[in-house]
Amino acid sequence: MKASNDAWSQELGPMIREDWAREIDIFETELRLRKQGKFDEKLFAETRLRRGAYGQRYDNGLRHDGIAQQNLAFPEAPTKGPMTQWYAPGMMRIKVPYGGLTPQQLETMAELAEDYSDGIAHVTTRQDFQLHFVLIEDAPALMRRLAAVGITTREACGNSVRNVTGCAIAGVCREEAFDISPYARALTFFLLGHQDVQDFGRKFKISFSGCAHNGCGLANMHDLGMVARTRVVDGLTQRGFQVFVGGGLGAVPHSARVLYDFLPVEELLPMAQAVSRVFARLGEKKNRARARVKFLVAKLGDEEFRRLVQEERKVLPSDPRWTAYLTDLPEATEEKPSKPGSALASTTNPEMLPWQKSNVYAQKQEGYSTVTVKLPLGDITAAQLRALADIARRYTPGAIRTTVEQNMVLRWISNSDLPALFAELQAAKLAGAGAEGIRDVVACPGTDTCKLGISASRGLAGELMRRFSSGDMAIDETIERLKIKISGCFNSCSQHHLADLGFYGVARKVGAHTVPHFQVVLGGQWSENGGAYGLPILAVPSRRIPQVIERIADRFRKERQAGETFQLFIKRIGKVSIKQMLDDLTAVPEHASDRSLYSDWRDPREYSTGDMGVGECAGEVVTRIDFDLAAAEREVFEAQLLLDSGNNDAAAKRALRAMLQAARGLVRLSYLDVPETPAVIIEEFRKRLYDTQLFFDPFAGGKFAHFLFSAFERADEPADQRSAHHRVEEAGLFVEAAHACNLRQGDRIAQSGLAAAT
Ligand code: HEM
Ligand code: SF4
Repeated sequence: MKASNDAWSQELGPMIREDWAREIDIFETELRLRKQGKFDEKLFAETRLRRGAYGQRYDNGLRHDGIAQQNLAFPEAPTKGPMTQWYAPGMMRIKVPYGGLTPQQLETMAELAEDYSDGIAHVTTRQDFQLHFVLIEDAPALMRRLAAVGITTREACGNSVRNVTGCAIAGVCREEAFDISPYARALTFFLLGHQDVQDFGRKFKISFSGCAHNGCGLANMHDLGMVARTRVVDGLTQRGFQVFVGGGLGAVPHSARVLYDFLPVEELLPMAQAVSRVFARLGEKKNRARARVKFLVAKLGDEEFRRLVQEERKVLPSDPRWTAYLTDLPEATEEKPSKPGSALASTTNPEMLPWQKSNVYAQKQEGYSTVTVKLPLGDITAAQLRALADIARRYTPGAIRTTVEQNMVLRWISNSDLPALFAELQAAKLAGAGAEGIRDVVACPGTDTCKLGISASRGLAGELMRRFSSGDMAIDETIERLKIKISGCFNSCSQHHLADLGFYGVARKVGAHTVPHFQVVLGGQWSENGGAYGLPILAVPSRRIPQVIERIADRFRKERQAGETFQLFIKRIGKVSIKQMLDDLTAVPEHASDRSLYSDWRDPREYSTGDMGVGECAGEVVTRIDFDLAAAEREVFEAQLLLDSGNNDAAAKRALRAMLQAARGLVRLSYLDVPETPAVIIEEFRKRLYDTQLFFDPFAGGKFAHFLFSAFERADEPADQRSAHHRVEEAGLFVEAAHACNLRQGDRIAQSGLAAAT
């Protein structure tokens, strides 16, 4: 039997950062409130998303068996979001900033995969980990166990700043301007939970690259992308970033625009804060399809967007954290090798040679290599995680990173250790060759677990990898470094626009039936930070995609000109000619005569789109005031619990805190930076909401405001059972009144707030 949330809380309490511990406690209370029907469904969905607890396919309690929709019998309970059953398993996304991990963290992942999931952890294209099939009630324990080893799931999903990604070989790369890791980390923790990133209309993705030429950071497809640069001023080398803004994939891919050519590192954090404020204030909130920052940048134009960011930067209240982390930044890289570097001995092991060619990278530090551990479809079992942790401990200074191609790397391997390391990886079935080439197909979760999946991206990827490794599909030098990326739908989670051979799922109606297809997207560019997006050519039935690949590969082999890249080849031969070459593959025989195209890879059911649900990756748009008021309500609930346990003084204080929280929420509509100091909140609340009568109830007038004022005046008086009871009741009424005020005046306050904030 699993240990309870409480048991983990007691066991791990002292090892968890105080603010993270409080966050998890709050989530646990919200969970309890929702289960009792005392917390709004949509708000709960957004609050759980912002903590990384995600929906999963079939969690609406329905599953199509190919003939008809079947009900999955989950026990009766409230929903955990619109159309999402409480007891249906979900997914937990676990943030791994710039992919950096320690062996201890890998071991924790192994335990969590076993205790709460299906024994498998999954590495994503944003360097996160994901665990599937997790019950929501296990989430607090899971979060505490992660927090105890320094990992958070906070803001992993929802309309928030997602995992900050960065080159997996940062610090050891031969071509980087400098190691981006400490900057990526500083920005991650600066923005995590920051009040200026709580009011976005959509998610916000940030990346760091060490250089302009290679692919690793993919700045071009990010909401905010940083590319390391240096310049020499008065003989001194200065570090900075070329900053890109407004990139993104999805149905409408945008290439990012240059926001700054050279931004000194001291300005990195305030710049990101200023961009966040502009996005929160002016970004689209209602029409979710146009709410990413890319649409705001396109609407305003580069110049105007830059001007607004600069204006915002000027009025930001100064924050010591902006530059504190720069004080003891190491010159080169933070990691200290655990062994001396050594020369690479030549190997005669025929199995090791191809691995060495594709998976071993010579670091800029002489005598050391970085090794890529290829994870088929990003999956790694608990036993493999433990083996890898053990290997990393013995051969590296604990230096592991996840990659955006769903793999892991081990850094700082002394070259003479490579044969022994290879043998150990082989024993753990982690020594697959061909990393990041054609054998290493990237795929999103697709119809396996994603509610939006249309076609079986993992099924197709698995089949391709089987054919490559069995020799059913031949690989030679011309095609072995090409990249294949497969998304289950147009949302592009596998980043198919940046692949040589990209595919995304679509469905086509044929008579009364539906046939799974993939749209073929060719010639995307991975290098130059994801420099160019591929061309969509045509949609082909899912089952025929291997033939598509064979034909294109064949033609490339035969017609490639000397030194020509795949992108240039696709451009040269053109869309029309490729379409002609593939056109016959689009014909679908009638269902009655041949059913082979009417099911998807690795799924024996007749295909239907009946399992698709409403995606919740970016959540409902819930505004900051909704969160503030929900937090106030939670504090009232906690005050009641304190009262019930006879803790009168603490109950009265918590009740006052609840009122202050609600009042601050209302004040923040027109004064974003209001400090948390109670006296200031009261003063601003009086000026903005009481004197203006905006807070007045149509019947009771200013009565509820006086609950706050008098509780504040008597804050230092000790409370007995009677007075505490009154205070808690008044707090409940005050929070209700704050809700009513928000509803009545929301638009008006928000508009004047916008004016005040600009
Ligand atoms: C499980 C349910 C998921 C849903 C419903 C979902 C939904 C979406 C949506 C709607 C977009 C398009 C964004 C836009 O157009 O604004 C998107 C993009 C993306 N997602 Fe997901 N996603 C899911 C899982 C994942 C996973 C597991 C990964 C990582 C493997 C991932 C990585 C990405 C990436 C890299 C992009 C493209 C970059 C961009 O944001 O523009 N997503 N996703
Ligand atoms: S691309 Fe589509 S199917 Fe794949 S994970 Fe993203 S939303 Fe789901």
